[in-house]
Amino acid sequence: MLERVDFREAQRESFRADVIAGLAAPRKTLPSRWLYDDRGSELFERITQLPEYYPTRTETGILRDHAAAMAAFAGSRAVLIEYGAGAGVKTEILLGALENPALYVPVDIAGDFLVTAAERIENRFPYIEIRPVVADFTDDFDLPADLPKLPPRVAFFPGSTIGNLAPPDAVDLLARMRAHVGREGRAIVGVDLRKPLARLLPAYDDAAGVTAAFNLNLLARVNRELGGDFEVSRFAHEARWNEAKSAVEMHLVSLADQSVAIGGRRIAFAKGETIHTEDSRKYDLGEFGRMAGAAGWRVAETWRDAENLFAVVGLA
Ligand code: AVJ
Repeated sequence: MLERVDFREAQRESFRADVIAGLAAPRKTLPSRWLYDDRGSELFERITQLPEYYPTRTETGILRDHAAAMAAFAGSRAVLIEYGAGAGVKTEILLGALENPALYVPVDIAGDFLVTAAERIENRFPYIEIRPVVADFTDDFDLPADLPKLPPRVAFFPGSTIGNLAPPDAVDLLARMRAHVGREGRAIVGVDLRKPLARLLPAYDDAAGVTAAFNLNLLARVNRELGGDFEVSRFAHEARWNEAKSAVEMHLVSLADQSVAIGGRRIAFAKGETIHTEDSRKYDLGEFGRMAGAAGWRVAETWRDAENLFAVVGLA
């Protein structure tokens, strides 16, 4: 219990530091990981069910259609290491297809999240041993030293979360996975592909306004947790394509000249000025393969949907 309270306190201080630094910068920015408080996670769940938001549905379909091939690729008695817990249904599809999985190791920074995810998997797969690891997977961390060494280790990173990272950080994470699974190991990674903007942009700016609410919740979170006085209705959600980065950027646009108080500070916004809140990079398979190559992997398998919207890549 104490540990949880400490964790929450530490999280809040880290949030405060990011908000103060990000809003003091000449081009205002807030790291996308803060989008996911309870309210944000609930809104993201709703996003995954929107007609415009193709990634979750498409990736789940690919996993279902190719589960047997992925299981063969992973090998028998695999140790499955998932970077970020709570992919839910996707994890269940893969675990359900694996041949005699030895162990499931979900890695997540949020302890409560891990517990919920582990309980879910335990109920569905009582015969699979689970070893949750509390760690920030975007930073270096060690796996428990006593994990079985013999069976193949398989890193699982679905959701195209890799697209939220700047390429050097994505390479670092892929290299970390390589170090975790070893030379004989494998990785299975979800990658959202480049596609026409007519398909892409509505996925980040849906008609029902759920993505807007998800983005704007970040300002409400600053008010709730840091005592800010953002008037949320004086900001608007915007999704923009950045061709140079091959990324959809989410921004919060100030609708007026205004100033906001957070703790003891005052932050001025000019009308039209934005806070950049997320990058969601879209790769083509060549680029992704080069990035994986730089991290010590080779692309062994590529599973895709019929429309080429999304790829699940098998790395060896
Ligand atoms: C959870 C990071 C994969 O980038 O598509 C959804 C987050 N942002 N709508 C994505 C998100 C806006 C999502 N990921």
